[in-house]
Amino acid sequence: MININTSLCSKCGRCQRVCPAFIPVIKKGEEPRLRNIEVCISCGHCIDVCHTGAYEHSAFPKEKIHLVKRDILPSPESVMELIRSRRSNRTITATPIPQKSLDMILEAARYAPTAENSQQVNLHLITDDVMLYNIEKANLRFFMRLARFMSLPPIKWVLKPWLRKLYDEIPTLLTMNKEFKQGLRPSICNSTALLVFSTPKGYAFGSQDCNLAYQNASLMAEALGVSQIYMGFVQTAMFMMGTTRASKILGIPKGHKAFAIMGLGIPAIRYRKYTER
Ligand SMILES: Cc1cc2nc3c(=O)[nH]c(=O)nc-3n(C[C@H](O)[C@H](O)[C@H](O)COP(=O)(O)O)c2cc1C
Repeated sequence: MININTSLCSKCGRCQRVCPAFIPVIKKGEEPRLRNIEVCISCGHCIDVCHTGAYEHSAFPKEKIHLVKRDILPSPESVMELIRSRRSNRTITATPIPQKSLDMILEAARYAPTAENSQQVNLHLITDDVMLYNIEKANLRFFMRLARFMSLPPIKWVLKPWLRKLYDEIPTLLTMNKEFKQGLRPSICNSTALLVFSTPKGYAFGSQDCNLAYQNASLMAEALGVSQIYMGFVQTAMFMMGTTRASKILGIPKGHKAFAIMGLGIPAIRYRKYTER
C-alpha cells in the first residue's frame, strides 16, 4: 500500500524527483496523486526524502524509518583513509570474531544497492570448523587433481605454451597442499569464517549485486579490525565444479550461484602504513 496523506503533503515535489518508477505526480494546483503503483520497487526513496511524513508505504512502517545521524557520519578524509588502509591481511589467528562484528559486517552487506532493489543476495556465513575444513579440502583436492592432469607429459607439452601462468602456480599449489597436511588452511588463508554471497542462478545481476555487497562488507570489516580476503581461489574451484556441487560444499541454497566469497578472521598484526596505488 502506498498513500500520500494530503493533509501533511507540502507539494514540494521531492518524492516525484527521486522515484525511479515515476509513481508520485505532484502538480501545482492539483491534489498529489499516485500512478502505476504496481511498478514500485520498494526502494524507500519517497519515504526518506519526504520532510513532512506525508508519504506512506506499507513496506516501511514507522519503526523502520530513521533520521540520518549526520553528526556521526565520517568525514571524506576518514572514508578515504579507511579505503586506503584496507588490506587483505592474511595473518589470521584462531581468535573467534566477535558476534557483534559479524552482525555489523552482514548488515553492511545488506545495505549495498541491488539491481531494481531486488535484494536477492543471500549472505551465508560459515563459522563451523568442520565446514571450513571441508571447503579447504574440496578446494585443494580439486586443484591438485587439475595439477596432476596438467603435469602429464603429453598434456603438459601441448598446454604449457598456452597456459604458462597457470603452470607457474603449480609449485604454490604443492606448498599449499603440504601446509594443509600439516593442519593449516592455506587456500582460505586460515579464515575462521567465510561469507558466501550468492543469488539465484538465472538472475542477471548476480555478480554485480554480490560484489557490491562484498565491498560494503569489506570496508566494515576493516573498520572493525577484522581481516577480510577475497577468496578467488576457492571461487574458481567452485565455479569449475559446477553450481550443484559448489552449493552443496558451501551450504548455500540449491539453485544459487556464489559470486563472491569473503574470508574473515582476527589478524595477528595490523599494518602501520599503506603504500600508494
Ligand atoms: C577477484 C579477486 C580474487 C582474489 N583472490 C584471492 C585469493 O584467492 N587468495 C588471496 O589470498 N587473495 C586473493 N585476492 C586478494 C588480492 O590478492 C588483493 O586484493 C590484492 O593483492 C591487493 O591487496 P589488498 O587487498 O591488500 O589491497 C583476490 C582479490 C580479488 C579482487
